[in-house]
Amino acid sequence: MTRLDRDQPTVYRPAEDSGLLADAAVDAAHGRVLEVGTGSGWVAERVAAERGLRVVGSDLNPHAAREAAGRGVEAVVADLLGPFREDAFDTVCFNPPYLPTEPDNEWDDWMEHALSGGESGRALIEPFLADVDRVLAPGGRGLLLVSSLAGYDEVVALIEDAGFVHEAVVEESFPFETLTVLRLDRASE
Ligand SMILES: C[S@@+](CC[C@H](N)C(=O)[O-])C[C@H]1O[C@@H](n2cnc3c(N)ncnc32)[C@H](O)[C@@H]1O
Repeated sequence: MTRLDRDQPTVYRPAEDSGLLADAAVDAAHGRVLEVGTGSGWVAERVAAERGLRVVGSDLNPHAAREAAGRGVEAVVADLLGPFREDAFDTVCFNPPYLPTEPDNEWDDWMEHALSGGESGRALIEPFLADVDRVLAPGGRGLLLVSSLAGYDEVVALIEDAGFVHEAVVEESFPFETLTVLRLDRASE
């Protein structure tokens, strides 16, 4: 059973990383859009409002899906890309949980799920990249926020192993990390 402390937020609040992903998605999204890990739905709402695109927001956290739906986002509870059919989207965006976290982390609250990327910081990035090709239609693209804390070179290697070429579309440095949004296009297209 999930422990809910009413004094603690249960849904990730939009921050600098959210803003960078939204800027990149408003610029580069096309067709049917999925935002994985939509949190509050703020990014998905911006893309829908500013581009007039149909945007689905998904999240493992039911409180997030409810908040996103409250903003008018078509929101579903889903574990990464599992429930979505092949070729379902033209653009898939993800601002993943990426903070490297000790292995004995208990993952016992929703903010932990929003922030923690496991010991490497890439615990969610790896399965996402292993499956995103399946749900992208021909000509589809991914937009992935990458923090230097999760290992930029390691994430790029995973992207290339998954069969994508990549280009940095937005980047900003902060005192403790550099955030980059990479656009992923199939190497074969
Ligand atoms: C860093 S937050 C980003 C939230 C929002 N997209 C934003 O940019 O403000 C990561 C989000 O991923 C969600 N998440 C964590 N694990 C997930 C999983 N396995 N499947 C789907 N979403 C997940 C978290 O609940 C959280 O809302």
